[in-house]
Amino acid sequence: MKLLVTGAKGMLGTDLVALLKENGNTVFETDIEELDITSFQDITVFMQEAKPEIVINCAGYTQVDRAEEEPELANLLNGTAVKHLATACANSNIPLCHISTDYVFDGEKEGAYLPEDVPNPIGAYGASKLAGERYLLDICRRYYLIRTSWLYGKNGNNFVRTMLRLAKERNELRVVHDQIGSPTWTVTLARIIYLLIQTAQYGIYHAADETNGGISWYEFACEIMRVAGYTIPVIPIETKDFKSLARRPKNSLLDLTKTKEAIKEEIPEWNDSLYQFINKGLGTGD
Ligand SMILES: NC(=O)c1ccc[n+]([C@@H]2O[C@H](COP(=O)([O-])OP(=O)(O)OC[C@H]3O[C@@H](n4cnc5c(N)ncnc54)[C@H](OP(=O)(O)O)[C@@H]3O)[C@@H](O)[C@H]2O)c1
Repeated sequence: MKLLVTGAKGMLGTDLVALLKENGNTVFETDIEELDITSFQDITVFMQEAKPEIVINCAGYTQVDRAEEEPELANLLNGTAVKHLATACANSNIPLCHISTDYVFDGEKEGAYLPEDVPNPIGAYGASKLAGERYLLDICRRYYLIRTSWLYGKNGNNFVRTMLRLAKERNELRVVHDQIGSPTWTVTLARIIYLLIQTAQYGIYHAADETNGGISWYEFACEIMRVAGYTIPVIPIETKDFKSLARRPKNSLLDLTKTKEAIKEEIPEWNDSLYQFINKGLGTGD
């Protein structure tokens, strides 16, 4: 298959490109230097020359707190640029696979969010991602809209890396226990994307590691410490005692049923993924 991957140097993009290539695909791997997705003109020219069979958009504005201060920038990359990609894909009659987030939901639901649940973001980042989702659904007939959550991987800043760094710098860790969700290793997400794009079953999907009911950031931090062999105390705190610019949903657990049916494969347990990530030395940033 001939694929165009945007944001290919990012946390997800790196692992996805590696998987696609390992499986014999031709990948046009682009990041902002090769293809700035905020330019419709550049996208059109690139696609006319490369003639991909599908586009996978791994580019995005991902800084949840900073988005509150610069929502225009978040909207440009997470909204307008997705409109450009969707239009270019529709013009070329090829599918667009786009990655979105659990933060499009408000977190008020009891239990896991289904792909068809109604988004209602409570922060600027989630609002910008929802704008992108809407462009995709309005413009493309063939799309995979894949929402993921709490992403970590070897090629980016993330919660696991932050906890491992803080464990060396501090005497204790204070982590919120009243926000529930699912961590997702980029390797798990890359595999789900790879399998989904072969199904031709277009639609909205949720993708995360399996948590069977969700975990809190506190539980996630405790497991990171345990697996990495740190004995530093981890103190559970409430969201109201943790200062941050953006509000975050208290429940952002994603239901994986539809995804598992489509890919016909079980999804790895979150602690198995974490174990591999840490034991392969991928969380150190060294
Ligand atoms: N990270 C999470 O916890 C999380 C959670 C849920 C959903 N997601 C979604 O998952 C997707 C992948 O996230 P990620 O964490 O892998 O992101 P990432 O590491 O920030 O990667 C995004 C890549 O896109 C590049 N980029 C920025 N502006 C661009 C432009 N105008 N044109 C082309 N490329 C551009 C970035 O380059 P620079 O680094 O130079 O800016 C970066 O290499 C995003 O859609 C994100 O919203 C992420």
